[in-house]
Amino acid sequence: MDTKPYDFALNAASFLNGRDAAPDFAVVLGSGLGAFAKQLSEPNVISYADIPGFPNVGVAGHAGQLVVGRVGPDGPRVAALSGRVHLYEGHDPNMVVHPVRTLALWGVGTIVFTNAAGAIQDQLKPGDLMLISDHINLTGLNPLTGHNDERLGTRFPDMSYAYDRDVTACFKAIAKEQNIHIGVGVYAGLRGPSYETPAEIRMLRAMGADAVGMSTVCEVIAARHMGMTVAGISCITNYAAGLSDDLLDHSEVKATADLARNKFLNLLNGGIKRIMAKE
Ligand code: HPA
Repeated sequence: MDTKPYDFALNAASFLNGRDAAPDFAVVLGSGLGAFAKQLSEPNVISYADIPGFPNVGVAGHAGQLVVGRVGPDGPRVAALSGRVHLYEGHDPNMVVHPVRTLALWGVGTIVFTNAAGAIQDQLKPGDLMLISDHINLTGLNPLTGHNDERLGTRFPDMSYAYDRDVTACFKAIAKEQNIHIGVGVYAGLRGPSYETPAEIRMLRAMGADAVGMSTVCEVIAARHMGMTVAGISCITNYAAGLSDDLLDHSEVKATADLARNKFLNLLNGGIKRIMAKE
């Protein structure tokens, strides 16, 4: 990255300012979860290709659009990032978190990260949703490595309550009201792109991980560095390696995310309305 991460994100944020007013709330959509962006009303669709420094998103199931719209006809305005970049594509961690930093500088205060993940915890099965209570960053990378730009945040940001307890409790309450079965657990973020071995999954379980995936952790670190309020929701798309007889396959990950789509939409729509009503 040629420019400093702060200036790089500020440039993108001023572009967005020219296109729309920043909503308070944003959602980053994981593989196969783009349906949330498509159902927003009064949508303002901004292509990543137009936003300075935004990535070309390569993975099937990711659209490469920032959609600003309302949750329901008179509902709160939100921004949905449909498509993200991953470390496994070879991107620098600063590139992976550039969209998150841009949203923060634009004015978004609360951000929900969603992802597809494999189940490690016994209570989770494909098609379930899991609220992320905490994470383990096993990518071997951190987006805050190197010079710390104080305009972004402090050198050593606290990560004790990275996933906001109030926002998470709101989603949990909505799930209960809507009869959506939802787990709560620790997300282990790995660099990928190969799926884990069964031995690695046994190690992750012993470490205290409940689900495993290849995104989110760097973005959460960058968001917390900038003081954003963060929550996370995993869509469990498969049993992690060695926990069933099935082999892992990205097309199945997407197909299972599709099956969970309605639950996921109801949870997000209901949760966001409740959270925004409280603010
Ligand atoms: N491992 C890592 N990433 C994933 C998985 C998995 O089992 N499922 C969906 N993303």
